[in-house]
Amino acid sequence: MPHSVRGRARAQCIAVGTAVPERRLTNAELEKMVDTTDEWIVSRTGIRERRIAPPGQGLSHLAIAAGKNCLAQAGVAASDLDGIIVATITGDYVMPSTANLVQHGLGATKAWGFDLLNACNGFVAALSAATAYIESGHASRILVVGGDIMSSVVDYRDRNTCILFGDGCGAVLVEAGPPEGRGVVDFEMHSDGAAGGDLIIPCSGSAGILNAEALARGDQYVKQNGIVVFQQAIRRMAEVCESLLGRLSLTGADVDLLVPHQANKRIIEPTAKRLGLASSKVVLNIDRMANTTAATIPLALADAAADGRLVPGSRVLLAAFGGGLTWGACYLTWGRT
Ligand code: COA
Repeated sequence: MPHSVRGRARAQCIAVGTAVPERRLTNAELEKMVDTTDEWIVSRTGIRERRIAPPGQGLSHLAIAAGKNCLAQAGVAASDLDGIIVATITGDYVMPSTANLVQHGLGATKAWGFDLLNACNGFVAALSAATAYIESGHASRILVVGGDIMSSVVDYRDRNTCILFGDGCGAVLVEAGPPEGRGVVDFEMHSDGAAGGDLIIPCSGSAGILNAEALARGDQYVKQNGIVVFQQAIRRMAEVCESLLGRLSLTGADVDLLVPHQANKRIIEPTAKRLGLASSKVVLNIDRMANTTAATIPLALADAAADGRLVPGSRVLLAAFGGGLTWGACYLTWGRT
């Protein structure tokens, strides 16, 4: 039974489920679409292939599958969920929220749900929100979904961006547990809106009018100042990890597994180095999945569970950086108490 005494619970992360599209888009195929090479992509990013959803298939398709998979592993019925938070920038629609579609698709009859927009830092943000609901006693079980269909907002004529992104979805069940037990220990979140224009989809809301000129410019697609984002990501990922661990009087020696956002292998490696972590303690799946925005962390958690590195009791550090700019980290011990 989950603990739900107000102010007396810890948010336990008890299972992770995923769903990715079957279709693989390889670097060799991209070589035929834009002026790039497999060698450039692998050496600059670490990416070899990415998954791509069929055009028009909404995120909810993957989110419902990931949610079912997660609940089955946790042994929890959808009807026992209190809430669903979907972190995404590519939900099926702006209205209704994808969380509502997932609620219906799972048969989570008593759950509320909402979407959370925080780009590549969306999963950490959604987990921090779920933690606050659970620690305050406002919910006992929340499904935290991170997913994106980046192929719907990527311009496959732009070599600067189209090689970077992929589609996928993951879901983690967060459940109230005893206050001294396993679960989320702490998190830290940051924003810098001044640099918002460096990673933007210009026509994706009320400020961008998608007229013929905007369509011709491709303003419905992701635009990125790659080098600025890259430099900020390296700096901020390491900074937030050190700050969070420092606040907890911990060091890299207290981390069994770093599960970082997968934007670029050359962002992840310096972060791990700053923390003094051996490569065996760092989850990397960017070669197969690329940057799936809000999905990277749950997809990486699932990979680590599958290869035996993520087990109940593992001390895990999550870290992410993305468009906003936004960055954050979360330290937790995995599994049910
Ligand atoms: N193939 C070949 N050349 C490419 C290319 C591609 N797919 N994409 C860009 N280039 C070219 C550019 O046009 C530029 O050429 P120029 O110097 O003649 O103008 C050059 O490569 C840029 O090279 P460089 O500066 O060495 O690249 P980089 O090391 O900065 O790597 C990124 C570029 C995009 C991989 C890197 O900036 C990055 O990872 N940024 C952040 C990525 C991210 O995922 N952000 C999302 C959220 S966190």
